[in-house]
Amino acid sequence: MATDWLLLLLLATVAMASPPPELTLLAGATEKGAVCLDGSPPAYQLDRGFGSGRYNWLVYLEGGGWCDTIESCSKHKKSGLGSSNLIEAVQLPGIFSNDHRQNSDFYNWNKVFIRYCDGASFSGDAEGEDQDGTKLFFRGLRIWEAVIDELMEKGLANAKQALLAGCSSGGLAVLLHCDNFSARFPQTVPVKCFSDAGFFLDIKDISGERFIRSVFSGVVHLQNVRKVLPKDCLAKKEPTDCFFPAEVIKSINTPTFILNSGYDSWQIQNVLVPDETSPEKSWLTCKANIRECNPTQIEALHGFRETLVNDLKVVQDKEDWGLFIDSCFTHCQTPFRISWDSPISPRLQNKSIAEAVGDWHFGRSRSGVKQIDCEYPCNPTCSTQLPS
Ligand SMILES: *[C@@H]1O[C@H](CO)[C@@H](O)[C@H](O)[C@H]1NC(C)=O
Ligand SMILES: *[C@@H]1O[C@H](CO)[C@@H](O)[C@H](O)[C@H]1NC(C)=O
Repeated sequence: MATDWLLLLLLATVAMASPPPELTLLAGATEKGAVCLDGSPPAYQLDRGFGSGRYNWLVYLEGGGWCDTIESCSKHKKSGLGSSNLIEAVQLPGIFSNDHRQNSDFYNWNKVFIRYCDGASFSGDAEGEDQDGTKLFFRGLRIWEAVIDELMEKGLANAKQALLAGCSSGGLAVLLHCDNFSARFPQTVPVKCFSDAGFFLDIKDISGERFIRSVFSGVVHLQNVRKVLPKDCLAKKEPTDCFFPAEVIKSINTPTFILNSGYDSWQIQNVLVPDETSPEKSWLTCKANIRECNPTQIEALHGFRETLVNDLKVVQDKEDWGLFIDSCFTHCQTPFRISWDSPISPRLQNKSIAEAVGDWHFGRSRSGVKQIDCEYPCNPTCSTQLPS
């Protein structure tokens, strides 16, 4: 008994004091032209798996918006979202936790956090010139290639199971690269994809403009993302259409789980009510806090959710896919303990997100891996403490 206690204490101390997994700069990145916006090498953090998770791999793509113009890419270039010279190793909780009480299915897996520094969801392939005449590199696709190749050499090639995940613009990257990822493994290896808060909607904002569409069009053309877009979509539609998840998911052949709030706070703040619409004060308070929205605004938010649910109808026919579409005002629910798996996590059918994703991934639930919440504010498990 005393020994158990000591061991637990020791483990707890180690867990608290453990430094974040170190930042690895990609070897030989420059020769491959796999570089961040500023020409610096891309980076990732690898946390080695242990015990029964030693051969299982979670590959996670960081998010952080996009850059769609020379001006915005120059800005990204001077930040950690465009240069690995400006980032530090981070310690993430939630799906990255090594504590089985917070992450019972993935705690002992190899976990890779691929840092985002290209501004185009790891998908561009072009070059540009900054306002000051220096080069801007749009090399997201080469970063994807080079990092995955390096990870294959570091053990990913021998994975017994692999899951490609990511949130926000990283969640969109997951959808764009999902089949390419799974095609790298023998067919006997279960490979799946998991997109968190990456389901961006092609909707009009409150002023009637298609603001997000203009952003996506900028990204697609400036950074040349064509190579990753589904061929069958490109045959019928504009490249910009094919960058939206509603189109991308139609052609994915790998089992995929889509986690997204029907009231995604980032999308409400930046897609439905972007600053460009010069929203009046009542919208500013509403988009900061859903509890402050008036009935007309809530109607607009319900409309957003309805579009999301409609766009996801194709998933109902996809066997082996999973959905967790809650109605909590938040964005990215995997990299936070509070949303991923805690006593105050959002729940659907009494399951936390971690439980629902685990049930889907390991085939533990025959019936209940596609869950869509009722309209806000019906879900009593939506905590006011969720990040928004
Ligand atoms: C993945 O995509 C890259 C870049 O488009 C391509 O070169 C590679 O052959 C693809 N790999 C697989 C396994 O499909
Ligand atoms: C809901 O889940 C919790 C934690 O998993 C469990 O303790 C509780 O009994 C469940 N409640 C119902 C109504 O099933």
